[in-house]
Amino acid sequence: MLKNNKSGIPQNKGEKPSFDEPYNEREKATLIDEILELKAKRNAVILAHNYVRGELQDIADFAGDSLELSIKAKENAAPVIAFCGVLFMAQTAKILSPKSTVLLPDKHAGCPMADGVTAAQVAAYRQANPNTKLIAYVNTTAQVKAHVDMCVTSGNADRIVAALTQSKNDDATTSDDATTSNDMMFLPDRNLGANLNAQLNKNKHNRHMKLWNGCCPIHDQLTAADAKRAKDAHPDAIFLVHPECKPEVCDIADYALSTAGIIRFVAKSDAKAFIIGTESGIIHRLIKDNPTKTFYMTKPELICRDMRGMNLIHLRDALLYNQHIIEVEESISKKALLPIDRMLNLSR
Ligand code: 13P
Ligand code: SF4
Repeated sequence: MLKNNKSGIPQNKGEKPSFDEPYNEREKATLIDEILELKAKRNAVILAHNYVRGELQDIADFAGDSLELSIKAKENAAPVIAFCGVLFMAQTAKILSPKSTVLLPDKHAGCPMADGVTAAQVAAYRQANPNTKLIAYVNTTAQVKAHVDMCVTSGNADRIVAALTQSKNDDATTSDDATTSNDMMFLPDRNLGANLNAQLNKNKHNRHMKLWNGCCPIHDQLTAADAKRAKDAHPDAIFLVHPECKPEVCDIADYALSTAGIIRFVAKSDAKAFIIGTESGIIHRLIKDNPTKTFYMTKPELICRDMRGMNLIHLRDALLYNQHIIEVEESISKKALLPIDRMLNLSR
């Protein structure tokens, strides 16, 4: 293993992340050089979520939402994937690309929503409700995914849930009949689930899902009053939110989209101004891709500390010291792959 820390910028020893600027411009440039050299030596691919620090998105081979990152991980034959995101995303990459060494540079990067539901709880629910199909947001641990019938991400949930709520005989359902019973439980995000149910109602589907009582502690902070205030302040701006926001917030917004959906919408739109209701890391890409457009954050303090704690030092150390390796036990990985694959097959 490569152990030569050329710049002398000290290794991150696994302390909890600090949100102070971790480096000055000169150190940043040195770290970027080190990372590019290590990446080439190790033949690594760097994947980054749309919420991580801008410099990580910029150095990544690909930056995207959970769905896009899953697809990239599956397509990828690189021996090393450095995943700048949170644990459940890196686990999904490992499940889809089991031969690759998947590295999560910041070992503290979890997702409180994903951690809010355990495999034991889901197994107990399944036992008590054997005829209920379990639909899990991809923001769940590999252990939880091993107990569910189908996964969705914010980028495909509306299409997949609509397909699953067709009649049993409808061709749009999965061919293995794993998700066609009448009762469906959506977990763990009660907000995304309620937004999906509202969509089903609007489209006159006569079925709706039961909802687990979890949420993203970041998006759940956004209130209808915050949303109204932003809309009143910028009446001509298009209002885009993430579907992890409360239903009453999504009702006020013009569109609820995944992070990649927001990025694509802004790129295609002729509008000049946008109100953005999601984690504020997305603003880096929005400004970079659309320098003449104006963005107003509903709440700039919507910061996911798990996403934002990772920096270039973590990434350099990951490639240099081969840390932190994501392992998913084979029996769990095999079971978790089924609902992920069903999702990817339906998202094509
Ligand atoms: P996306 O899949 O839309 O990028 O969302 C992931 C996430 O964690 C949102 O909080
Ligand atoms: Fe999890 Fe919310 Fe952070 Fe996304 S923004 S990783 S759902 S805590």
